[in-house]
Amino acid sequence: MSVIQVTGGVPLRGEVRVTGAKNSVLKLMAAAILAPGRTTITRVPEILDVTIMSELLRRLGCTVEHDIEAETVTIDVPVEIEHRADYDLVRQMRASICVLGPLVTRMGAADVAMPGGDAIGSRGLDFHVQGLRKLGATVESDHGYIVAQAPNGLHGASVYLDFPSVGATETVLMAAVLAKGVTVIDNAAREPEIVDICEMLIKMGANISGVGTSTLEITGVESLSPVTHATVPDRIVAGTWAVAAVMTQGDVFIRDAVGAHMDLPLSKLSDAGADIEIAFDGIRVSMDRRPTAVDVVTLPYPGFPTDLQPQFIAMNAIADGVAMVTENLFEARFRFVQELARLGASVRTDGHHALIKGVEKLSSAPVEATDIRAGAGLVLAGLVADGTTMVHGVDHIDRGYCHFVPQLQSLGAIISR
Ligand code: UD1
Repeated sequence: MSVIQVTGGVPLRGEVRVTGAKNSVLKLMAAAILAPGRTTITRVPEILDVTIMSELLRRLGCTVEHDIEAETVTIDVPVEIEHRADYDLVRQMRASICVLGPLVTRMGAADVAMPGGDAIGSRGLDFHVQGLRKLGATVESDHGYIVAQAPNGLHGASVYLDFPSVGATETVLMAAVLAKGVTVIDNAAREPEIVDICEMLIKMGANISGVGTSTLEITGVESLSPVTHATVPDRIVAGTWAVAAVMTQGDVFIRDAVGAHMDLPLSKLSDAGADIEIAFDGIRVSMDRRPTAVDVVTLPYPGFPTDLQPQFIAMNAIADGVAMVTENLFEARFRFVQELARLGASVRTDGHHALIKGVEKLSSAPVEATDIRAGAGLVLAGLVADGTTMVHGVDHIDRGYCHFVPQLQSLGAIISR
């Protein structure tokens, strides 16, 4: 079991580069299934979830090559593919569910293991299932698997999502591109990662309008062709580096970060007192004093991203003032607060609100990461804590951040693994 050991007190200075977004690349890889032939995805991050997704696609019969140096994945998709995603992979990565839509629309059938804690009809999968049923699939649960069938293909339909779920938007979108007729997804998610997959699908020959809005109109086509597509840069990783620069009172240039995808987090950092310069090739974030506390409310894009919530709680933990952070997407994300409290943070939670009273200094302690972003948040806290903090459970961090420790070292942090 790896542990990250981080000694606080060094302002981060220098340059880091962000690669493609985890939350996009996995879906782009799933979209490759829609077209027989060779798809190449570039700007692929070297993260564990890409390895898991590669294995999932191999078991479906695809040949997958991940060139780590070149940051590319090539996926050779045969005409006939398997349609089963096994529990041993899905259990490791909930995002495996993203093969459901492509499989059912291309092969007329999909058996995808249900991620832990979810069941058909439960919050977490209900919008995916309802959407596929609208498109004409039968969807049932069988021995822990979602079994979707559409032997005669899918047809277009009007799908209204109760909530702009990222995953459900992707499932319905990827199913609709090969369905007969027109599908309209209302209250669709608008995240930059949704725009990214729409752009790839359009390149493949899909007919989609309303990209980047909450109404997507998709006219199904007979077939799609494989393409080469570059993954959108990871705004969550970029945001993590930005918060790290602010917390440590450093000066960091985040190469390839796209400012337009980070309006709200950057304006919050500016409210906290940071200097933000947005350039065509990245973002520079610098800070010369203790941050001021900032309130945050997580919402679907363009609202504040839930995936940056722990990092902002970590920043507020050392800020001047009191902040209220409201989590509207995933309540379990506040579990991380108990670990932060071990470092001396003053945080109280009530339902989906966290009240953080900034302290002058955190003090090092052993802590445990409960998920990817919590792991990042704890390392950021360690960067400003007195003494040496040991962060356990760092395998979570590997799922979403590539070269996390070496990148921090290159910015001057005293950190090792
Ligand atoms: C994706 C991201 C995740 C990010 C989240 C919100 C990936 C791999 N993960 O997750 O990092 O935090 O978007 O930006 O891309 N919901 C339902 N029923 C459903 C689907 C979702 O009730 O059928 C609820 C969820 O419980 C949650 C909310 O909708 O409360 C948002 O979930 P969703 O947008 O679907 O997130 P994911 O796609 O799972």
